[in-house]
Amino acid sequence: HYTKVAIIGAGPAGLMLAALLARSGIDSVVLERHSRSYVENNIRAGVLEQSTVDLLDEINVSERLFKEGIVQRRVNFQFDGENTAIPITEITQGKSLVIYGQQYVLHDLIEKLIQDNQQLWFNIDSVKIDRHDKIGDNHPPMIRFRRHDQNDEEELHCDFIAGCDGATSPCCRQSIPSELLQTIHHLYPFSWLSILADTPPSGTELIYAHHSKYGFALHSLRSLTRIRFHLQISPTDTLADWPDDRIWTELNERVKPINGQTSITKGEILERAIFPLRSSITLPMQYKRLFLVGDAAHIVPPTGAKGLNLAVKYARVLAEALVNFYDNEKWDKLNDYTQTCLSHIVKNQEFANWMTLVMHKLDLSEKSNRQNADLIDQYTQQELQENIKHSSIFQCFIAEMYT
Ligand code: FAD
Ligand code: DHB
Repeated sequence: HYTKVAIIGAGPAGLMLAALLARSGIDSVVLERHSRSYVENNIRAGVLEQSTVDLLDEINVSERLFKEGIVQRRVNFQFDGENTAIPITEITQGKSLVIYGQQYVLHDLIEKLIQDNQQLWFNIDSVKIDRHDKIGDNHPPMIRFRRHDQNDEEELHCDFIAGCDGATSPCCRQSIPSELLQTIHHLYPFSWLSILADTPPSGTELIYAHHSKYGFALHSLRSLTRIRFHLQISPTDTLADWPDDRIWTELNERVKPINGQTSITKGEILERAIFPLRSSITLPMQYKRLFLVGDAAHIVPPTGAKGLNLAVKYARVLAEALVNFYDNEKWDKLNDYTQTCLSHIVKNQEFANWMTLVMHKLDLSEKSNRQNADLIDQYTQQELQENIKHSSIFQCFIAEMYT
């Protein structure tokens, strides 16, 4: 097989890249190890920032998003039950966030790509980038793979590879020679227990809540009858430490209803998963004709709701550089890829880190408490929380960064 751009991974980065390339008439093949139904049902992110919504609209993938997405014009911050609503739309003169599950974004992109006759290959095993040491101007890359249930190895030749294989897959990162590769990695001393449950949320707004005894909770939703929330837990906790009763009790301790909304009642828990909070940056993001995109290149802690939004930004930067290459035979934008993405990364990494440290309880794990205390001690955290409550400059910063 041959294609111009081989895209490894059908997450937000890979599918957005494929859609942007298709719009410019550049053919690609997306290779995904999971099935289509797995990809469309894997529940992760929920918050889209304005630029992501605008981009989805620009490529005509916004019909369901505009119908079903839940627009957020305010974001709430609670400290021991005291609520501060930040009017993000008012502050940013019109921008907002939209709650719309990542799996719906993926579903909509897949539909669009199939409609446009783009090649999406699911259930692809053993993807290997061949001769990565020789990838270069005169050695276009080649990928070996197997289709699930088939023994024969196949080859996909291409001009470029987009490594959109997420945070946990080593496939693309390992294809950059180790002597060039630098990864900075930080594991936070807490994890998130993320729940999706069939019960009405307490109102329709995002609430980021810090409770000085129990820790952080994030109240979100997927519909008027379905709540999504994340609880800070100790990094050593397992699902067995969190029976349903404990989950509901702690959620109600940590998050208080606002604007006379009802409190949260128990419902059937449809999904539960634990995510360690981590951040990492891998450099360089380009090795000759291979480009790392999205979580494959860097991870932000989810507190700032930035991972998906950043993945989509990288996809846009890479798509523009590839269009420039095919239209003008120019490598300049491709060679600037790492640098262009880095400015987005640094800004968002800082914000997500700041949000994480301001909102979480810092002393859940004795062992790692010291590390955190070095960055921001309890007193500084309290000062920052006071600023979120009372300083219009801090509120503007948060509104700008969120949208
Ligand atoms: P992924 O979504 O991980 O996609 C990678 C794809 O590659 C997968 O489909 C995988 O199966 C495939 N793959 C992997 N290895 C191979 C291989 N060898 N061969 C073929 N295919 C392969 N972000 C936000 O912007 N807003 C939020 O509100 C938000 N909330 C979050 C909440 C939680 C609890 C978590 C964990 C994350 C959240 N994020 C959020 C982050 C967001 O989900 C990720 O940043 C986003 O999914 C990254 O997209 P990606 O395409 O880079 O990687
Ligand atoms: C959601 C996830 C986040 O990480 C966040 O910051 C806000 C909302 C969500 O799952 O809805």
